Amino acid sequence: MILDDLPKKPRERIAALVELISHHNERYHALDEPEIADADYDALVRELRHLEELHPELIPAVSPSTQVGAAPSGLFEPVRHAVPMMSLDNAFDDEEIKAWGQRLARVLGRDSVEDLVFSVEPKVDGVAMSITYLDGQFHQAATRGDGVTGEDVTANVATIAAVPKQLRGKGIPAVLEVRGEVYLPLADFAAMNDAARAAGTKEFVNPRNAAAGSLRQKDPAVTATRPLSFFGYQIGQLEGVPAPSPFAATSHAGTLAALAGVGLPVSPDVVSVTGIDAVIERGHELEALRHSLAYDVDGVVIKLDELALREVAGATSRAPRWALARKLAPEEQSTKLVDIEVSIGRTGRATPYAVLEPVFVGGTTVTFATLHNQDQVALKDVRPGDTVIVRKAGDVIPEVVGPVPSSTKRPKAWTFPTMCPTCAGPLVRLEDEADTYCTNLDCAAQRDQRLSHFASRSAMDIEGLGEKVVERLTEAGLVVDVADLFELDPERLAALEGMAELSANNLLAAIEASKTQPLSRLLVGLGIRHLGPTGAKAVARALGELSSVRIAPAEQLAQVEGIGPIIAESVAAFMANPSNGVVLDRLAALGCSTIEPGAAAVAGEGPLAGKTVVVTGAVEGYTREGAEEAVEAAGGKAAGSVSKKTYCVVAGAAPGASKLTKAESLGIPVIGQEHFASLLATGMLPG
Ligand code: IVH
Repeated sequence: MILDDLPKKPRERIAALVELISHHNERYHALDEPEIADADYDALVRELRHLEELHPELIPAVSPSTQVGAAPSGLFEPVRHAVPMMSLDNAFDDEEIKAWGQRLARVLGRDSVEDLVFSVEPKVDGVAMSITYLDGQFHQAATRGDGVTGEDVTANVATIAAVPKQLRGKGIPAVLEVRGEVYLPLADFAAMNDAARAAGTKEFVNPRNAAAGSLRQKDPAVTATRPLSFFGYQIGQLEGVPAPSPFAATSHAGTLAALAGVGLPVSPDVVSVTGIDAVIERGHELEALRHSLAYDVDGVVIKLDELALREVAGATSRAPRWALARKLAPEEQSTKLVDIEVSIGRTGRATPYAVLEPVFVGGTTVTFATLHNQDQVALKDVRPGDTVIVRKAGDVIPEVVGPVPSSTKRPKAWTFPTMCPTCAGPLVRLEDEADTYCTNLDCAAQRDQRLSHFASRSAMDIEGLGEKVVERLTEAGLVVDVADLFELDPERLAALEGMAELSANNLLAAIEASKTQPLSRLLVGLGIRHLGPTGAKAVARALGELSSVRIAPAEQLAQVEGIGPIIAESVAAFMANPSNGVVLDRLAALGCSTIEPGAAAVAGEGPLAGKTVVVTGAVEGYTREGAEEAVEAAGGKAAGSVSKKTYCVVAGAAPGASKLTKAESLGIPVIGQEHFASLLATGMLPG
């Protein structure tokens, strides 16, 4: 994309690349406001290196292909690094790792790479930091800058709890410069953005940016409010090492152990392996673990373990020969924002979403991404026709980060529609609310969403009744409200175009089966505002049956544990609405269960009354939830952890080891899943 717009002739192309890369270096390193995805930046650098290789005579005197980072911004005092902070060369696939290994073996005068030991570590996506300790006392912290001169951010780094102010233990050197990465843990990043969204302020683009921005604060009090953390991964300057000292280590693994020993945090995900095949294998393992780590990772760093051999290998002007970064599939990409459309939910909420030119990012092809609400579209300032950055980390919902600035005239800003795209009714935004609603209760989009919600897994769990099928039923006029589902005419259903007899029968059977679902699921399925599965369960267990819920005043509902006044009001209002009453009457008449079997526990009835049971592992014939519901239906309480009060533990396949150990230590009986049925029926333990 960006490459397509560059001149074709080598000389002009190199000049254009140099200019572009320098510009983006500054945006990324000095301003913390990158304009393009990392993957696009990498492509530019690769292209420049490739051209410089083909045309050495055209290499500029100062080329960003050999430069590290960016010059200091002038915001903070400059700090000259005692030992330059270098960058890493990149590999994009396994072949490039192998080629690097062979080159390294050759430089070291070895026949093969197979007996060399390597450290394989996550490439934490944060901000490189040099932290100096004098006689074990925190002294100074500096950014990488251009590798030679960084910026003094001592006051800001001093606010990071993970960075010790005083090292502990014996053998501490007079001067110890630890290098590592300041980063923002993913959970904290998500919480910060949730808060920003709720407050209607601009969200952070990604954890790296949030960390960099936090470090660049002039007022350390602001930095102190950001939950930054730190991992050490290297030693820079080292002087006055006493004897004995863990810092006399001759290997990288020994160095990391020494750092951890004096209280500096080190990533727990670093391993040492021998030979290049093992390096590659561990790289794949880390890639698979990527989304279960608590921090953002953009690659894997491979380092030669033996420090003496590193000396032999040496470095180029930019990066050491003894280390390599294996880049992982990017989680940010740029693509075209084709349009912004609005979808209508079951409550009528109108949610804007981006229609994108399909782009492969974070392991899947992304075509749509939510834009949350009107204010978020305005804050992000994305406009149909823009090139935008799309981010998708693992299973996380894809997100449009923002537009890529362009030199050409911007398309015109998007305006929120005033009419519902489905029913053409008005879209209304209430004062003080971020959301906009379609207020027409008969809107077909809302109706379809209500029906699919009723059938969804957390509600009545009707297999085969997804959004598409619902749409066909409503379009054909077979169904208008949820009660109609139980009066579906088999002949008219089977006559629907494209509906095979078998699937019609299966659907009818699934609808019929859902009639025995407990009241709590029915309540969830009705889509009462603010009432989620947990609240529905509490209400159903406290009141036992629908007829009681229907007449309960809000004050009574608010007495139920876990139900606050807002939910209570909402449930009471729903039940008081006459048209809802008509549907509820019909549901009951059509044979839908209106009772909560587990409510017996509240009344102290059932074989397991007063007993707490813990289910661990997979019990055959049940889902986890189903097994717990069965315990509750027998009057018992299902708990998630073992305590003194536990009556017994039911161990299914692959049970949790910690639960079993705990049960054993407390003398709580553990029974096999083959005894589950008799436990439910009699409340008694086997034998
Ligand atoms: S070692 C000379 N190890 O990646 C080797 N770097 O472009 C110095 N990074 O600036 C780097 N995790 O900010 C090393 N485990 C790790 C790392 C790591 C992240 C960053 C670091 C560096 C950049 C390399």
